[in-house]
Amino acid sequence: FSDFLTDTFNRQHDYLRISLTERCNLRCLYCMPEEGIQLSPKKELLTTAEIYYLSALFVNQGVNKIRLTGGEPTVRKDIIPLMQQIGSLRRNGLKEIALTTNGISLHRKLDDMVEVGLTGVNISLDTLDPHQFVLLTRRQGFDAVMKSINRVQEMNKVGAGIKLKLNCVAMRGLNDHQILPFIEMTRDQDVEVRFIEYMPFGGNKWSEKKMLPYTEMLDLIRTKYPSIEQLKGGKNDTSKTWQVPGFKGKVGFITSMTHNFCGTCNRLRITSDGNLKVCLHGNAEVSLRDMLRKDHDNEPMDEAAFEALRQIELDRRKQDGFRFDGEEGWISKERELLDII
Ligand code: GTP
Ligand code: 5AD
Ligand code: SF4
Repeated sequence: FSDFLTDTFNRQHDYLRISLTERCNLRCLYCMPEEGIQLSPKKELLTTAEIYYLSALFVNQGVNKIRLTGGEPTVRKDIIPLMQQIGSLRRNGLKEIALTTNGISLHRKLDDMVEVGLTGVNISLDTLDPHQFVLLTRRQGFDAVMKSINRVQEMNKVGAGIKLKLNCVAMRGLNDHQILPFIEMTRDQDVEVRFIEYMPFGGNKWSEKKMLPYTEMLDLIRTKYPSIEQLKGGKNDTSKTWQVPGFKGKVGFITSMTHNFCGTCNRLRITSDGNLKVCLHGNAEVSLRDMLRKDHDNEPMDEAAFEALRQIELDRRKQDGFRFDGEEGWISKERELLDII
């Protein structure tokens, strides 16, 4: 495994998240304002060829999982050819190709995606109530999302083996009454429903009151499913996994607010405009795009990219872990605290 991707705490960064676009066809309350966000000019975004080039570079250094994210990644017209190109990197050691999507148009593209190598999908769904869906996402589309979920399950019945997770951002007073129905869904369906603690970012009108802590969700779930038990997790999991004994599906909790998982974070990120980031909250970014677009007569791109990684490694924030402070925003805290997780 490449030294470049191993940090001073011996964390091997073998998981790369690539954001394909900032655009989205929904307007979820917790994420985007009604009017949408200011989009970068197209020429600043990575092209298909650039994304493939960077993917290959990282896979050749030991990355074995790539997750495509957004915005909404399926709004990019080149999503299938791009996935196909990334799929060819399985020859070089890439094991997982995953997608995080809102599921609106997935049902139309899923078969092709699986054909070119897709191994997992995380679909955002914050309510099982079609009316509430419109309130939370400010758009229609509940049936389309359900169609996508069903299509994944149908394909799995004939052996496709697609790892399916549903992401539900839990918000007090908004969708907390949906937690029990989501757990009920895991009785007969082979799906992992993950409840995510509501996080503040970029002026999304977060308030601490709306954030439902992990332990409170568990208490609520235990009122109806007292036997729910925790399963052993993988060493780099962001979620803590639970299951009601005898149920087919699983329940996960992403506890970024109350029990962060920075200490075992193995992720690298590339933003849609080609910046490399080592942390969701860290703002030290290095433009891989600019390096790619520069003439590399004297210095091969690989060297330049790894130099970028070295520079970013100097950012201590990756090493510290984060907690949210109402006044200060995301601030790093002492590393000892991380070892509790
Ligand atoms: P897998 O573990 O690969 O299934 O995916 P994931 O849970 O990392 O990714 P997904 O795109 O489904 O995101 C689910 C939630 O996790 C979102 O709310 C993300 O904001 C959050 N998340 C993803 N990566 C990180 C991270 O590095 N740090 C923190 N704090 N949250 C993250
Ligand atoms: N807090 C927690 N999770 C969020 N997501 C988007 N915004 C937030 C937020 N403020 C989740 C979505 C999606 C995933 C990529 O990020 O539910 O599934
Ligand atoms: Fe944000 Fe995803 Fe909702 Fe789009 S679907 S608004 S990217 S959370």
